[in-house]
Amino acid sequence: MTSNAVAAARCWVEVDLDALRANLAWIRHRVGPKVRVITVVKADAYGHGLKSIAALLMQSGTDMFGVATLAEAAAIRTVGAGWPILMLGAALPDEVEGAIRDDVMLTLSSSAELQMIATCAERLKRKAFVHLKVDTGMGRLGVAPEGAVALATQVRSSPHVELAGLYTHYANVEEEASFTRNQRLTFRRIRDLVRAHAGDPEWVHAANSGGLLLELPDTCSAVRPGLLVYGIYPPGSRLGNRPHPDPFKPALAWKAKISLVKEVSAGTRLSYGGTFTARKRMRVATVTAGYGDGYMRAASGQSEVLIQGRLCPVLGRVTMDQMLVDVTRLALVRPGEEVVLLGKQGSGCIRAEDLATWMGTIPWEVLTSIAYRVPRVYRGGQAA
Ligand SMILES: Cc1ncc(COP(=O)(O)O)c(C=O)c1O
Repeated sequence: MTSNAVAAARCWVEVDLDALRANLAWIRHRVGPKVRVITVVKADAYGHGLKSIAALLMQSGTDMFGVATLAEAAAIRTVGAGWPILMLGAALPDEVEGAIRDDVMLTLSSSAELQMIATCAERLKRKAFVHLKVDTGMGRLGVAPEGAVALATQVRSSPHVELAGLYTHYANVEEEASFTRNQRLTFRRIRDLVRAHAGDPEWVHAANSGGLLLELPDTCSAVRPGLLVYGIYPPGSRLGNRPHPDPFKPALAWKAKISLVKEVSAGTRLSYGGTFTARKRMRVATVTAGYGDGYMRAASGQSEVLIQGRLCPVLGRVTMDQMLVDVTRLALVRPGEEVVLLGKQGSGCIRAEDLATWMGTIPWEVLTSIAYRVPRVYRGGQAA
């Protein structure tokens, strides 16, 4: 999107590719030269726009991409051929062939899956690459620790399937240190057993963003961050082993405009349901963003936006395309002025964590809820 298009936009996202590049460099610096980085780009690269982010990460030397769907993998392939891609979810039966044909590595949790993958690979006369997932406490995917060695051994004896990786996923790094420690110790034990009985997979990984901030991956050859690549700390991890000085910068800013400013008298109800009534004369701005853009209705009456660098409260219910904001404290406000929903303006700043608190959710959901109709504009990096 060009700057003329920004001038015409009602609600848009700006992505700072230099910040993203620097965040990846900091992750590399933190984990050291021997540990590889699998960047997680699920859900349109956490709402940042998959293709542009994939291009930037390829230029910046990511080692592998983690995706949720084959469509995401295919989008990455259109940006650059040959990059290692791991599908983090369990492939559906009718997705296995496409994954093998497109060299997308598959997550393996059971011998039934292995059989399906092996049969398909044999029929295609190709090799399938799998990362064996061990369930150390997440309870979502993965083989139980007791079954891991047997499954790894089965993979090793399948001529059409290669054991490319071994991994696990932390369930609550930020809040439960001892649970996480147990997960890590279990994983380390399984890694040693797999090594002894089925060889050493190339990619051994566990740490998401919280994991790599809180502890260094002594057990692993790779880390698997998402949120931190985009410059956002998992809530709670600030208390942990946080790098000093703080190097990570949010790459995404979310903006809209003022479309109308009006005075309302005391007693005026604002927006659907009349959940807000003016107690005194007020100046109210209509802002061109709503839940149709991903600005959740749960933020109604809770959140603030930045106008002229100052925080202004959202009044009453957020509607599909618009919301109302109190600008009484500002001297002069005009239609067309920029409003920051997430990001910096002057000395003001709204972080994804702030929006998440106001919306009663987590930063991951804030980012991935920004709607497709909201154009993404790229700055820095190799952006045109
Ligand atoms: C399996 C897996 N690994 C890694 C990540 C990245 O997590 P984070 O964004 O907390 O770094 C996710 C995120 O959902 C995930 O599902």
